[in-house]
Amino acid sequence: MVGLLALATALVGVVGGVVFMSYSGIQLPSLTEQQNAEVNLPVPEVPVSKALADPAQMWHSPDWALVDSEPNAKDIKYGKELIANTAAYLGPNGKVKKISNGLNCQNCHLQAGTVPLGNNYSAVASTYPKVRGRSGKSEDVVARINGCFQRSLNGDALPADSKEMVAMVAYMNWLGQDVAKGEKPAGAGIYELPLLDRAADPIKGKSVYDRQCQSCHGPDGQGLAKQDGSGYTYPPLWGEHSYNQKAGLFRMSRFAGYVKANMPFGATYENPILSDEDSWDVAAYVNSLDRPDRSFPNDWPDISKKPMDHPFGPYSDSFTETQHKFGPFKPIQEAKSK
Ligand code: HEC
Ligand code: HEC
Repeated sequence: MVGLLALATALVGVVGGVVFMSYSGIQLPSLTEQQNAEVNLPVPEVPVSKALADPAQMWHSPDWALVDSEPNAKDIKYGKELIANTAAYLGPNGKVKKISNGLNCQNCHLQAGTVPLGNNYSAVASTYPKVRGRSGKSEDVVARINGCFQRSLNGDALPADSKEMVAMVAYMNWLGQDVAKGEKPAGAGIYELPLLDRAADPIKGKSVYDRQCQSCHGPDGQGLAKQDGSGYTYPPLWGEHSYNQKAGLFRMSRFAGYVKANMPFGATYENPILSDEDSWDVAAYVNSLDRPDRSFPNDWPDISKKPMDHPFGPYSDSFTETQHKFGPFKPIQEAKSK
């Protein structure tokens, strides 16, 4: 009680003194000067950047304005147009051929394959042909593009000498012109999302979907088709018009890494929106729902080459198909590295 009284008296004294000094025309230091000079307040925290990678290191596509100086400028431009508007040329109502499901390459390879960690094509010219575990063979760019036609676009392959294939290859070579042979620049492809200690959870993922995705992709996941039948304003995420079960996005790490850096639309690797957990869980939800299946009997001639999240057995380890689909993936990875 005595202490309190003393404190109160002291406070009145201080306030009184300040009031007195103000009235008597004595210059009081401004609040900020006072903080810096006398009071040892904690330095305000600089907000921690959530960027998934260092923007200064990122690959950027060559300047599109320079394309006209290329001898094959026509091919390069047609190639870009096909990547951006695939469905208009090659979709169910395609004006060149009808060989794919209505998705555009660009729905997954954002801005015609130029976005850092937006599944870009920066490492295509530099790393193909390469031996891939899925085919067990050396694949050139043509074979890799056809892989996406048959799986992501659930459609048919294009002949290597078709005008369309020549154009897409020309565009990818142009995009990768500054990348040294064998190199993979920073920001190539899809973000490698840190693994969770638990299995991804489709039930939690449904609530992420309802909050963060359904406003565009629809409560039924079927997206929003354009009026003229030339593709989608919002592409479908499951069902008969979506990628099939042998596509890259059907693997949890591909879907979750893509979504973390790019969805909901407007998110970027510099400003991601979803937490890591939400990204894994929404991947588990979407990839639990119906979608086309297709058999590729020549896939994975050596089953020990299957990635940790390849969701179809048989495997060279003893983990179940469910664990290979949803995780937890760390034990699988540890077993692999032994
Ligand atoms: C539904 C999504 C989706 C669509 C649509 C799609 N792709 Fe892909 N594509 C992927 C995924 C996922 C990968 C694998 C990326 C990884 O593992 O890093 C991939 C990989 C590739 C690669 C290899 C990239 C590399 O660096 O190794 C090429 C080339 C490619 N796609 C071309 C195309 C073309 C051309 C189209 C359109 C005809 C297309 N893709 C449509 C999802 C898609
Ligand atoms: C504001 C609208 C919007 C929201 C919200 C949104 N998306 Fe998308 N999404 C798009 C658009 C538009 C594209 C195609 C991008 C393009 O073509 O440039 C796309 C493409 C995709 C693709 C690749 C194409 C395909 O059909 O497979 C996936 C996967 C995806 N979104 C998942 C999600 C998930 C998961 C969420 C929620 C976490 C989400 N999106 C939220 C607009 C949205």
